Amino acid sequence: QNSKMTDALKRPLRDLRISVTDRCNFRCRYCMPKELFGPDHLFLPKDQLLGFEEIARLARIFASLGVEKIRITGGEPLLRKELPNLIRMLRSIEGVNDVTLTTNGSLLAKYAEELKNAGLQRINVSLDSIDENRFGQMNGGRCDVRTVMEGIDAASKAGMKVKVNMVVIRGINDQDIVPMARFFRGTGHILRYIEFMDVGNSNGWNLKHVVSKQEIIERIHAEMPLERMRSEYLGEVADRYRYEGTDEEIGVISSVTDSFCSTCTRARLSADGFLYTCLFASQGTDLRSLIHSGAEDEEIRRLIMGVWGSRRDRYSDERLLHTKNPEKKKIEMSYIGG
Ligand code: GTP
Ligand code: 5AD
Ligand code: SF4
Ligand code: SF4
Repeated sequence: QNSKMTDALKRPLRDLRISVTDRCNFRCRYCMPKELFGPDHLFLPKDQLLGFEEIARLARIFASLGVEKIRITGGEPLLRKELPNLIRMLRSIEGVNDVTLTTNGSLLAKYAEELKNAGLQRINVSLDSIDENRFGQMNGGRCDVRTVMEGIDAASKAGMKVKVNMVVIRGINDQDIVPMARFFRGTGHILRYIEFMDVGNSNGWNLKHVVSKQEIIERIHAEMPLERMRSEYLGEVADRYRYEGTDEEIGVISSVTDSFCSTCTRARLSADGFLYTCLFASQGTDLRSLIHSGAEDEEIRRLIMGVWGSRRDRYSDERLLHTKNPEKKKIEMSYIGG
């Protein structure tokens, strides 16, 4: 009966996104703008991070409550030492049938083989432009296109399925929408366009900078006709399309112009062990203190059930109400991992 546990809006708990570090070697303007995340920025101290045993223990409890899919995020998750060991531990949890990771790709060439050997079957890599100049403008000048491409190639060679995530910001990289589609068509990698979101408090978000799903699709369709595909499972965030008459797929994640809160089955765990029930939450639930106080699994489980049971989050459905109230404090993307 537990796997039918639902929140106050009847949404089951199916996915767990686990952040393993709040650090990143990039300074993407939409996530950790370098003006705000400078050399003085205070990251979480190492002794406040959950250890792998603690993460795996919580993941097992979440799995007993219905979680089937686990995604490792950051910051940049590949900055966390020995990450393949965590993947091995998560892969062995009963009921979990999908363990995956979202990365900026900069260290992927180095780790692809190890990740695959640890049991990672697929991976999502962020890449906002294939133009060196604009990619540099997006990531704060921290990485070139070629390094990420080598990471993507290495992951693919190692046998992992790759999705490529492109955050689109009008006036910054929207001219790359069609070139990115041309480039990735035929590679076997699924390119996904992401509407720029107002995550956190520091990325200067404005609706004018958002390129809508509709416009993205129209621009590609004008050159390479597209058709809709059905979604694979309840709660999938990307709308899927394919080039007419082929099985070459792209996706669009439209949290702004066509939100998907009504099917949101995702819980999020921060690197310091707080549980959040929405990407746009202001407050979380401290599971780490509970662990450190010596709580039994059953006590932790009951707390999670209580939090999920009363969950009413639907930020993206109500976004325009919230953006009129910019005082609302939100967690940062680099802290919770998207
Ligand atoms: P797949 O399982 O491969 O479909 O991955 P995913 O799209 O769930 O995860 P990924 O980490 O690649 O995220 C892609 C984009 O979707 C990022 O910009 C995320 O912030 C966004 N996203 C994922 N889940 C949610 C969500 O629950 N709400 C909102 N608003 N955005 C989300
Ligand atoms: N809006 C949309 N997507 C974002 N990401 C990070 N910040 C934002 C934002 N403000 C993306 C990253 C990565 C994924 C986890 O979230 O580029 O692909
Ligand atoms: Fe790092 Fe990803 Fe944030 Fe860019 S979006 S700064 S790569 S965590
Ligand atoms: Fe889920 Fe919150 Fe995203 Fe809506 S805005 S889909 S409730 S995480």
